[in-house]
Amino acid sequence: MKLVFATHNLNKLKEVQALIPSQITLVSLTDIGCLEDIPETSNTLEGNAKLKADYVTQKYNLPCFADDTGLLVNALKGAPGVFSARYAGEQKSSDDNMIKLLSELYTEEDRTAKFQTVIALNLNNESLFFEGIVEGEITTRRKGEKGFGYDPIFKPHGYNQTFAELPLQVKNDISHRGIATKKLINYLQKLF
Ligand code: IMP
Repeated sequence: MKLVFATHNLNKLKEVQALIPSQITLVSLTDIGCLEDIPETSNTLEGNAKLKADYVTQKYNLPCFADDTGLLVNALKGAPGVFSARYAGEQKSSDDNMIKLLSELYTEEDRTAKFQTVIALNLNNESLFFEGIVEGEITTRRKGEKGFGYDPIFKPHGYNQTFAELPLQVKNDISHRGIATKKLINYLQKLF
């Protein structure tokens, strides 16, 4: 089965590809010649994931899934949440986002937070959703070079390292995207 993952983010692609079984051929937006930035205009993770998956299915007539992720910080009442990519502005810079978040939490004792991913699958023009959540905390400074986005300042509960220090397989075992992707794969495998 050929399935499009609607992302331009090579780190996400690498994480998801590592989990996909051989019965599924994963193709990226670049592989299908979709070079545009698909608008994410919804104010929910579900809405944005569905917008991206539906855009590809309608334009390219291929089954497609897309993910949308938010970092929800308890002391900030769930912010930045669905606005995580643009937290420090439209430039969508991970460096700027981390600087802003660390400064917002500078004097904060409650540093608990969670990543939430929603995957929307468009298969035969039907939408299905798969969710993954990982709880953890925001560190006081960046650590690690792996991963992307907020990984250098997110330490999952039960671990002493940030997502940017942990190997990809460990992140995939416990992460928001890993959990949501495994639910998606489980669903697809029942169709074979
Ligand atoms: P989106 O799902 O690509 O819209 O991601 C929203 C924001 O969360 C962006 O700033 C991403 O860099 C960040 N993000 C998404 N997934 C992860 C992750 O697995 N680790 C760290 N940051 C992430």
